[in-house]
Formats: sequence, C-alpha cells, structure tokens
Amino acid sequence: MSSITREAILAWLRAYAEVIAEQKDFLTQLDMAIGDGDHGANMHRGMQAVLSKLNDVAQQDIGSIFRTVAMTLLSTVGGASGPLYGTFFLQMASVAAGKTELTPTEFSEALKRGIDGIVARGKAAPGEKTMIDALLPAFEALKSSLDAGVSFAEAVRASAAAAAAGRDATIPMVAKKGRASYLGERSAGHQDPGATSSHLLLETAARTLPGTS
Ligand SMILES: Nc1ncnc2c1ncn2[C@@H]1O[C@H](COP(=O)(O)OP(=O)(O)OP(=O)(O)O)[C@@H](O)[C@H]1O
Ligand SMILES: [Mg+2]
Repeated sequence: MSSITREAILAWLRAYAEVIAEQKDFLTQLDMAIGDGDHGANMHRGMQAVLSKLNDVAQQDIGSIFRTVAMTLLSTVGGASGPLYGTFFLQMASVAAGKTELTPTEFSEALKRGIDGIVARGKAAPGEKTMIDALLPAFEALKSSLDAGVSFAEAVRASAAAAAAGRDATIPMVAKKGRASYLGERSAGHQDPGATSSHLLLETAARTLPGTS
C-alpha cells in the first residue's frame, strides 16, 4: 500500500503557499462580496510565513511539521480563518505525531481530526456557508474511496472533487457564521471564501501527496 512521505507533505504545504499566492486576489474578491475583503491577504501572509519555516523543520516528524504550520497560522493570520486553520493543523499534528510517513488511513484520520477541531472551535454545521461545507464532503469522499479499496491517488482526487462540489454548493447558501452572516439573505448567491481556500488545500493535496512513485 502506498504511504504518504514527509517529503510529499512538505511538497503539499509548499505548493499550497504557491497556489494561495496565485489565488490571493480571487479570495479577496470573494471576501469583499460577503465579508471584509481580507481572506486572500490573511491566507497569503500565513502561508508565506509557513513557507519561511519549512526548511528548518524538514527533517522532523510530520506531527512537528503540522504543529509548526499550526502555530505559524495562529500567530500570523488574524480573523476567523487563522484560528480555524491553525486548529485544523494542530489536530492533524496529533495524529501524525512521531511519524515520518502516514498510511492513507492515517491521513484520512488526521483530516477528520482536523475538521472536528474546526467544528469544535467555530461551531459551524454543514450548510452554514463555511469552509466546513468543502472539508466535510472531502473527508467523506476520501474515506469512502479508501474503504472501497481504490488507490490513495484516486481517493484523494475524489476528495478534491467533492471539495469542489462542496465549495460550489456554498453559492446559494445563506451564511450563518462569521461576518458573512451579518448580510443574512443577501449572502446567498456568493461563493464562500473559506470553502474556496479549503478546496484549494485538497486540490493541492491531490497533486502532491501521492508523490511520484
Ligand atoms: N464559525 C466558523 N466556522 C467555520 N468557518 C468559518 C467560521 N466563521 C468564518 N469561517 C470561515 O472563514 C472565512 C473567512 O475568513 P477570513 O480570513 O476572511 O476571516 P474573517 O474576515 O475574520 O472572517 P469572518 O469575516 O467570516 O468573521 C469564511 O469564508 C468562512 O469559510
Ligand atoms: Mg474576512
């Protein structure tokens, strides 16, 4: 069975920083429509700070790498999304502690633990127009694909596709959490910025985590 190496995890995080840099203005545009227009800048600041720390922790276990990501996001990304993504990586770290590679099942468990952390902190339920609407379907698709016995590469592609569908499903939703909820019904018709950055995380995972072997 394929395993997810530390090098693949590092490639994932570096690629995500690059994707966020490319999509920064788009994320900001989305957040201008229903929030305060800082999601692109928040994520970019956070991921550039993560990028600057990765070389120093590249020889450590995956748990330590995720913990560094978490602490960096917590200290550099303000707003709602900093603590939420910080918690996500902190919980992922608890599953990856001491490991220099993860089985697909361990990665799936880490993803679930991370999502549970976001829910515990932000109290968002599915359908409330948040990052949860991309992340939860992504986990469910990953788990059901792995349970069905497909390769990790195929499972993580299915996960990214589910995240994209979840992101798109936020468009008609009325926001119930965060600043977008102040708009009430007027938040409908706009794609949620956090669900968009979460989809990008899974899409990047599908490109990088299976590695090249
Ligand atoms: N309680 C929550 N649970 C999960 N996700 C949330 C919650 N509140 C906000 N979000 C996500 O955070 C995104 C906004 O992140 P941003 O970086 O713009 O922080 P912010 O401006 O402080 O957020 P907000 O304006 O939503 O309070 C939203 O698009 C949504 O996906
Ligand atoms: Mg914002």
